[in-house]
Amino acid sequence: MSSQAQPSPQRDSNSEQREPNSAMRKVTRKEIEGAARTTTLTGSARQVWDKLENKTATIGVVGLGYVGLPLAVEHAKKGFQTVGIDLNQERVLRLNEGHNYIQDVDNEDLTDVVERGLFTAVDDFSTSADIDVFYICVPTPVTAHKDPDVSYIRSAAEEIAKRLRPGQLLILKSTTYPDTTEGVVQPILAEYGRPNDMTLGRDYFLAFSPERIDPGNEEFTTANTPVVVGGVTEACLELACKAMGQVVNHIHPVSSPKVAEMEKLLENIFRSVNIALVNELARLCDRMGGISIWEVVEAAATKPFGYMPFTPGPGIGGHCIPVDPYYLSWLARRYDFETSFITLAARINEEMPYNVVDAVTRAVARQAVSLAEANVLILGVAFKKDVDDVRHSPALKVMELLRDKGVKNIHFADPHVKKVSVSGKNWEMHLEPIEVTDETLRNHDVAVILTDHSAFSYAQIAKQSNVIVDTRNALEDIPHDRDKVMLLGGGSF
Ligand SMILES: NC(=O)c1ccc[n+]([C@@H]2O[C@H](COP(=O)([O-])OP(=O)(O)OC[C@H]3O[C@@H](n4cnc5c(N)ncnc54)[C@H](O)[C@@H]3O)[C@@H](O)[C@H]2O)c1
Repeated sequence: MSSQAQPSPQRDSNSEQREPNSAMRKVTRKEIEGAARTTTLTGSARQVWDKLENKTATIGVVGLGYVGLPLAVEHAKKGFQTVGIDLNQERVLRLNEGHNYIQDVDNEDLTDVVERGLFTAVDDFSTSADIDVFYICVPTPVTAHKDPDVSYIRSAAEEIAKRLRPGQLLILKSTTYPDTTEGVVQPILAEYGRPNDMTLGRDYFLAFSPERIDPGNEEFTTANTPVVVGGVTEACLELACKAMGQVVNHIHPVSSPKVAEMEKLLENIFRSVNIALVNELARLCDRMGGISIWEVVEAAATKPFGYMPFTPGPGIGGHCIPVDPYYLSWLARRYDFETSFITLAARINEEMPYNVVDAVTRAVARQAVSLAEANVLILGVAFKKDVDDVRHSPALKVMELLRDKGVKNIHFADPHVKKVSVSGKNWEMHLEPIEVTDETLRNHDVAVILTDHSAFSYAQIAKQSNVIVDTRNALEDIPHDRDKVMLLGGGSF
């Protein structure tokens, strides 16, 4: 069912008092579909519903990053009193002065909601009892051994739990492995709730609703990107759908948080696997020669059904695609299950920066300069086009590997990124971007296009550079100077 979930507040409260973790599937499909017509919310659930309905609910967004800040501003724009909680004091200070740091948030929108007193940021949880609906949007990284690190979720849940009161709804939005909501967050809330005679589903409410924001995407924004919601109990689901429905047009309810958690991993692993497939084919095309993977992908994309185009590149980046497969493979191992396919895809993608560095080495070898003395210019360090996010960016890995190979003169240009730091075993590199001019291009032995930002002048890059390693087919429309170009998947890489 894809719907504008606005179930009416009518239900029997007794059925909400289910014990946590008791059933794998707490809400049936029929119940979800019937929720709008058949149920009655009473007591605390009713209060939360009414506050959302008449826009008097106070919204709390925990973690004001790429996910949390846009969500907080959207709620404030709808007239909700919105509190942003972030442990980063600098971010909190900046926000309260109306200064934005997230590309997807409109500067004027932020200033407006701050000036109207609808949005405030705080750096602790001391006033969290005033909040009716929490969204938890904290990081979910992996450890050095690529195991899930849910310590940020745990810590946010504990802070909320310490001040838990009847009539509070928590919606976890951080991407994580199935059972985090019920296996990690729910016991923390129960530990504080039980001694105070509070029961989940009757007094307080918990759900998982994964985030789908695509930074830099102007077509699909918070309002027009459907979201999936899974509640621990039926009341949790109804309230979470109601809450998300305040800022999102289409809600897709599912039968449990676990389904929603797994669904998010499927979305991201789908991308990882398909990118790996095309990366592998790009390498094969390079080995064979005479076939360009880019032309192959373009041709395959003419099939109007059963195919979706993915393009190769220098590797994957951002906070999601490089991390999420490991959340699932870690969980699978607990069930004596090896996610071989998913792990292989992650490995293929992680090898791509090594291939790029091999290509750069060969590009240097074409010239009268040693690797150690070569000037290498990295064009684009953000993990994807037209964004400023460098987290897990393959560019950082490429720079690290080049430095490890002895390349001393590495520079970068990126209109969206103000600085990068890269480190190896015994060294650290802190770089600021240089401007792309005819002179800088000529002064570098190799230009390496790692991110195909729209702001670059590709005609200029083609004309002025000595040799270009193009990992994005960014020079596709530039007919001149092709003999300088080493294109990933183009047979000359
Ligand atoms: N960035 C994306 O495009 C994207 C898309 C979908 C899902 N996600 C998921 O959303 C979650 C958040 O990602 P993000 O990109 O917004 O992260 P981010 O690093 O941009 O922001 C996280 C914020 O949380 C704050 N924080 C950390 N611990 C905290 C705590 N205990 N209490 C309060 N604040 C705390 C940090 O200071 C930071 O400002 C992750 O699970 C990520 O996988 C991200």
